[in-house]
This record gives sequence, structure tokens and C-alpha cells, in this order.
Amino acid sequence: MRKKIVAGNWKMNTTYPEGETLAGAIAGKTNEVPGDVLLIAAPPFTHLCCLTGALREAGVKVAAQNCAAEAKGAYTGEVSAPMLASIGVEYCIIGHSERREYYGETGDVLRKKVRQALDAGLRPIFCIGEVLAEREAGRHFDVVRTQLEEVIIPLPTSDFEKIIIAYEPVWAIGTGKTATAGQAQEIHAFIRRVLAGKFGDSAGNTAILYGGSCKPSNAAELFAQPDVDGGLIGGASLVADDFIAIANAF
Ligand code: PGA
Repeated sequence: MRKKIVAGNWKMNTTYPEGETLAGAIAGKTNEVPGDVLLIAAPPFTHLCCLTGALREAGVKVAAQNCAAEAKGAYTGEVSAPMLASIGVEYCIIGHSERREYYGETGDVLRKKVRQALDAGLRPIFCIGEVLAEREAGRHFDVVRTQLEEVIIPLPTSDFEKIIIAYEPVWAIGTGKTATAGQAQEIHAFIRRVLAGKFGDSAGNTAILYGGSCKPSNAAELFAQPDVDGGLIGGASLVADDFIAIANAF
């Protein structure tokens, strides 16, 4: 059985006191969520050390939103995967479209980041997805296949089994436009087929999350699709009630 997962990507939102309030509100409501749903929160780096304990105690796993491509050294401003692991962070979002677009993260960099995360014992939440022009040109299948081939397909199966995939059509992120449940299922099933081509049965156990304007009002329909195993939630993860409602949408 695949895990059901709802992960909140806080992005560059909340000051530390605001983040502490949000984490407390989420932690206070985890008892409303069925035990088979894994909750993950990805606060900003500045909050991780202080918030990880309370979140974990409430059953919420903690993710970073990014990690460095190197383990340590003269890389001013970077945060390494071993640093994250050393404070109890267990997951790391890698390859978010905002990192690809604004910080020029290419397949080569992302392959290193995934290697770093895995070597530090973190589980990567690896993001893929096409931009609007690619969808309109009917190229979305090719785009996600290439993104998988660059980073995930070369992994040995033992590493692949630690990966969570997040399919996030870039045109749906923060726009209020969501992929239809049918569009999500179609491409999630395609992603699983591509993964199965290399990893066989292991692909059947991989959680593939949908991301992009997922909210309480559309989560149930998306999560009802056979190959949609949960969500990577941006905006709605900043409101504890919405985040918890999404986790209850399976
Ligand atoms: P959104 O962001 O839910 O605000 O669209 C999703 C994401 O970027 O992970």
C-alpha cells in the first residue's frame, strides 16, 4: 500500500513568531487527521531548528525546502543536507519549479542535491512539472519524462525507494488554476509508468503527490484518483484549518 501524504510548502512566508503560531495550530489539530495520512511541513530554514521538535512530537514530519549540492565547505549562504539531518529534518523538497526558474537549478544541480539528501538520510520530495506553453503544445509528457530521466531514473532502486515525487504543473502553482482530476490522473499514471520502466514493482509503492492550487474544495476529487497519493500544498498550507481539511480529504 502506498502512503497518503499531505506536505505543506510554506515557501518564504512567516516570520519566526508567525511560523511558531502556525506550527502550533497545525500540531494542535493532528489528532483530527486519520492515522494513515502522513503530514509533512516545510517551514523556512530559519524556523527549522526551533520548530522541528514540536512538529515531530505532534506527528508532523519536517522537510526543508531546499538543500545545498555539496556536503560542506566554502559555499556562503548555503545549508547542507547533513546540517538539516542533524536537527531532525527528515525530508527535503528538491527541484521545485521556483528553484528551477528563479535560481537556475538544472538537472545536473538537482542530481547532486538528491545525492546529498539521500547520503544524509533525508527523503527527497522531487518536484517535476511543465509550464503552460509546454502543456498547450502537448509536450507535458515529454517534459516530465525528461525531468525524471535527468535525476531519478539513474538512481539505484534502493535509493529510488526513498523518493517521493510531486507533480506540479507550473501553470497551476499559486494561480488558483488547478489541474482537473482527469488531467492529474492522466499524468500521474504516466509518471508511474515511466518509473516502472526502470524500477519495476517499486514504482507501485512510490507516492506521487499533486501540487498546484490544491485546497480543501478540490483536494477530495484529486486524491480520489488512483495514482494521486496526496498533495504538496503551498498557499493553503499557511492556514492550519485548510491544511488539516486537505489532509482529511482522502
Ligand atoms: P500552491 O503551491 O498550492 O500555492 O499553488 C504549490 C507548490 O508550489 O508547492
